[in-house]
Amino acid sequence: MANNPIKIKVENIYKVFGSDPAAVMESVKAGISKSELLEKNGHVIGVRDVSLDIPAGKTFVIMGLSGSGKSTLIRHFNRLIDPTAGRILVDGENVMDMSEAELRDFRRHKISMVFQRFALLPHKTVLENVVYGLLISGMTKAEAIEKGMQQIDLVGLSGFEHRYPNQLSGGMQQRVGLARALATDAEILLMDEAFSALDPLIRNDMQDQLKELQSRLQKTIVFITHDLDEALRIGDNIAILKDGELRQVGTASDILLNPADDYIERFVRDVNRARIVTVGFVAEAAASLPLSDVSESRCVSLLKDNSAIIVTKDGQAKKIINRDTLARNGFQGLMSNGTELQDLICINQDATLEESFSLLGSSNGIAVVTDNKTHPVGVITSEAVLNAMAGK
Ligand SMILES: Nc1ncnc2c1ncn2[C@@H]1O[C@H](COP(=O)(O)OP(=O)(O)OP(=O)(O)O)[C@@H](O)[C@H]1O
Ligand SMILES: [Mg+2]
Repeated sequence: MANNPIKIKVENIYKVFGSDPAAVMESVKAGISKSELLEKNGHVIGVRDVSLDIPAGKTFVIMGLSGSGKSTLIRHFNRLIDPTAGRILVDGENVMDMSEAELRDFRRHKISMVFQRFALLPHKTVLENVVYGLLISGMTKAEAIEKGMQQIDLVGLSGFEHRYPNQLSGGMQQRVGLARALATDAEILLMDEAFSALDPLIRNDMQDQLKELQSRLQKTIVFITHDLDEALRIGDNIAILKDGELRQVGTASDILLNPADDYIERFVRDVNRARIVTVGFVAEAAASLPLSDVSESRCVSLLKDNSAIIVTKDGQAKKIINRDTLARNGFQGLMSNGTELQDLICINQDATLEESFSLLGSSNGIAVVTDNKTHPVGVITSEAVLNAMAGK
């Protein structure tokens, strides 16, 4: 994955609620439990020592059960609340150092927040609903309408711009809400349980819409949910909170295959890994060797340290050699079947295990994994896929 610059940097944030948070910080830092602090001092730990690097242009999901501190955490990002300790930097700027005027401008143009349900104004048309916020933020009417129409088109509602909300289905109304949220010029979108109130079919549709829109817009989206499936579906990165503490941050594949602790492991136990984990994540590194350099001794020596060799010609994978095929066919046997191995199959690193499985079935259980430019990056075997699916 490309290394995007950090958009929001969260540094050791603590938020304690109560009459005198500063007075209890010492015990909080010393590790007093949330329940004990509440019992002894009547203070509530909202967030405890959370640090995060949120990359630009990605969808970053914050997940956790009710009360785990998700809303408290993201309200720091646009300074709806101030931390008891720690810092938040947005594009390198400390939000605590902003003046009132800077903060107003920041909330209006840089970071916008979407709450539980996209409520539409019933007496305004679709278009009026979408441009409403743009006009408030000072855009001219012509600009706002142009921008609004683009967003309506993006969510597939062209032709409905002059309808009223009650003339649309529930799902269409939600899409208008999404269009409105995405129409702002804000580079950062904070979405707090935006889809939670929706019925499951509409919710799935909205998740797809968001993914589709995000692939084009590449905003920095911080999306809160308490739903694991939703997190795994839409998050490029996922942070999991429990009792105000950060338990794990990673891609969906990371979290499913390498849960950081027992809590996470129990959480993800029943997820269908085959649909989520990507091939790139379980690929084994392989040595790459141009066809012109191939010799038996070279192969034997490379296979001491690598599980496989990808023989390339003009940068493209042509053949896989591993200990197994070398032992079975011998070097001469392997090289005699031409430069192309007939059943060589390449699978994109972003494919899911499920998608790879039938392909592997028709390629002797081994295939080349390629990046988006079809360059080989490793190999994948049926065995590795099965192990990963079993949650090994
Ligand atoms: N203003 C407040 N005063 C006192 N305690 C608070 C306040 N806001 C949040 N809390 C407490 O902080 C903790 C984290 O709450 P928060 O609302 O951030 O959780 P959440 O993960 O967003 O939960 P939900 O999924 O229910 O929205 C909870 O124990 C909550 O009771
Ligand atoms: Mg919340």
